[in-house]
Amino acid sequence: MKIPRKELLNGFTLPVLSMGTWMIGGGATRDPECDEDLAVESIRSGIHAGITCIDTAEMYADGFTEQLIGRAIKNFSRHELQLISKVSPKNLRYSDVFQSVELSLERLQIDYLDVYLIHKPNPNIPIKETMRAMRDLREQGLIREIGVSNFSVATLLEAQQHLGFPIVLDQVHYNLVFREPEISGLLDYCRENDIFVMAWRPLEKGVLAADSPDIIKIFSDKYNRTPAQIVINWLISQDNVVTLSTMRSERNLRENLGAVGWSLEAADIEELRVAFPNQEKVSNREPLL
Ligand SMILES: NC(=O)c1ccc[n+]([C@@H]2O[C@H](COP(=O)([O-])OP(=O)(O)OC[C@H]3O[C@@H](n4cnc5c(N)ncnc54)[C@H](OP(=O)(O)O)[C@@H]3O)[C@@H](O)[C@H]2O)c1
Repeated sequence: MKIPRKELLNGFTLPVLSMGTWMIGGGATRDPECDEDLAVESIRSGIHAGITCIDTAEMYADGFTEQLIGRAIKNFSRHELQLISKVSPKNLRYSDVFQSVELSLERLQIDYLDVYLIHKPNPNIPIKETMRAMRDLREQGLIREIGVSNFSVATLLEAQQHLGFPIVLDQVHYNLVFREPEISGLLDYCRENDIFVMAWRPLEKGVLAADSPDIIKIFSDKYNRTPAQIVINWLISQDNVVTLSTMRSERNLRENLGAVGWSLEAADIEELRVAFPNQEKVSNREPLL
């Protein structure tokens, strides 16, 4: 299936749904029990099904996730894929950023990244130094575009000041429960400044698919879609918002693909925004406020 794409005014595009890879091959460290062939196959299945943008990070499974992706993408045409990786907060010094990207490219067995993100701000390393490295990486063709993750409006503004190129996306925790990007003004800021909000954890690790409040059941019936499809569609039906999900199982992959190619009505998006129960103002991980 062809996943619909969204386009920024500056011409940069992303599919509305990408493949996340957190927990593929391990979490913070490599899982010694990982069935590598199965992991590689799950990534390939996603690509065969039409998911052409893959998100990863040097931090995932200590680089092992990138190695698995490298194996998975070998027989696909590079220009048909978009590969996103992230430099860890501890590696934001100028020379460390270069070393990190080179190692990521080596593990992924590619010669450029489509987008390179700062995984999260590090207040102990001047953002000016990191952005100089990002700019130089872009000029040298090792990365095509620059993005950030878990950045607030204030940190985004600071990063942009030192860059001279557009920042194309901010990857943040955003779903029907975690509304920080709305409350902090980040979502509005990104819309006004031509930046994608790439919502991570759209299903709150599957919880929002399994445990549906009545309002989701009502919309499930109205649109004849599963709760997971309603929850994902709520994100991608909004301006400047795209998302990504980890989908190792074929069942979840198929279900989430059914979340794209249609749209909730504007009034229903707003009803869900207001009436969805147990909303949290800040991310359970890192407040952006
Ligand atoms: N920038 C950051 O700081 C940051 C932080 C967290 C995540 N991320 C990125 O965002 C991606 C998505 O985050 P996430 O994986 O936490 O999001 P998620 O999609 O909310 O959760 C994925 C989990 O839910 C399950 N799942 C997927 N679709 C489902 C469905 N339709 N029904 C029931 N369960 C379903 C998956 O199982 P299976 O895998 O077994 O199919 C997996 O365990 C990550 O992989 C990572 O690339 C970035």
